Amino acid sequence: MSTRKFRVGVIGAGGIAQGVHIPGWLALPDVEVFAVADVHEPTARKAGDLAGAAHRFTDWRELMALDLDAVDICTPNKLHTPVVLAALESGKHVLCEKPLAVTTAEVREMGEAAERTGKLLCTVQNQRFRAETLAVKHWAEGGNLGEVYHARVRAMRRALLPGRPGFIDEKLSGGGPCMDIGVHALDAALWVMGFPKPVRISGTAKVNFAKGHKIPGKWGDWDRAMFSVEDFAAAFVHFDNGATMTLEAAWLGHQEEDEDFSFQLFGSEAGVHWPAGKFSTVSRGAFVDGKLSWPHRVEKPHAQQIAAFHRAILEGAPSPVPWRETLQVIKILECVYESQKQGREIVLG
Ligand SMILES: NC(=O)c1ccc[n+]([C@@H]2O[C@H](COP(=O)([O-])OP(=O)(O)OC[C@H]3O[C@@H](n4cnc5c(N)ncnc54)[C@H](O)[C@@H]3O)[C@@H](O)[C@H]2O)c1
Repeated sequence: MSTRKFRVGVIGAGGIAQGVHIPGWLALPDVEVFAVADVHEPTARKAGDLAGAAHRFTDWRELMALDLDAVDICTPNKLHTPVVLAALESGKHVLCEKPLAVTTAEVREMGEAAERTGKLLCTVQNQRFRAETLAVKHWAEGGNLGEVYHARVRAMRRALLPGRPGFIDEKLSGGGPCMDIGVHALDAALWVMGFPKPVRISGTAKVNFAKGHKIPGKWGDWDRAMFSVEDFAAAFVHFDNGATMTLEAAWLGHQEEDEDFSFQLFGSEAGVHWPAGKFSTVSRGAFVDGKLSWPHRVEKPHAQQIAAFHRAILEGAPSPVPWRETLQVIKILECVYESQKQGREIVLG
């Protein structure tokens, strides 16, 4: 009997890879992080040491030649597509950080490659794996909300701007807070709503503060000349079932909270707030307010998603975050930018 462990290669070994992905893989007993690739050699070496990896590369293409079961991609957003496609084509299952891509054309190309090669493609949407999200999802699936007619989705930060090039240089990130954090709250809200199809979207994506010096960053300063994405985005979305949604995302906004990462769903039977888990309804003529909780401990959502992806591969189960769901998320975000560019509402065919 073979004693070979399940082998993973991590590509893009910066903050999120070292902070949560590598520890998430190492927490699984039958898994080894066999190789690490990062274009920055000291980063590849540091992450390789952290992971105890047998191989470290500065060119991710070399990693693809190895006999690996899965590849975990944590490069800046716009580098996801070529790496995902190469990994699928070389027979590896793929876990890739959000946003999977910044255009629907790329998401579709990756999804079709996954179907053709028979490999799992899974977008990291770790917010789904939080206890609060599981509680709201479970409760909504029990029919408690009735028909959801409106969603209010927010990923609003006060002065938390990630100043690394992979976030603020459009050539690498493909977008600002809309792609960085809007994607999380939007994905979680759509997941609970059961992914209604967006049909009309109007949006704005602008720089209000990041080019000037009005708001200092609590995560340090950033290169104002390099800054080429929005620092604020907002959208109004119509879905095919008649429901609507407002979406707001910002890195720099005058508000009390450092971060308001939330959604509120309004249904015919009740409303619910995530992540607070607070719900409001009417029962026999009386107003009722309550709070949901989840019966099991859920720690480290990233590690939970990594474990779910690993389990799905071993069991031949579907991807825990399928590309067709990601397609709906990216369609909305793509339309926010398109609406800003064209100065009008975008109607989807
Ligand atoms: N799910 C979450 O909560 C979460 C949080 C943070 C970041 N992210 C996502 O993770 C990804 C990486 O973000 P990060 O915060 O780790 O950024 P980071 O800048 O800390 O790390 C990115 C790494 O990719 C490397 N890289 C760049 N080009 C490369 C190439 N051609 N080949 C190999 N490596 C290359 C960089 O050298 C860097 O070490 C992004 O897509 C981001 O959106 C997700």
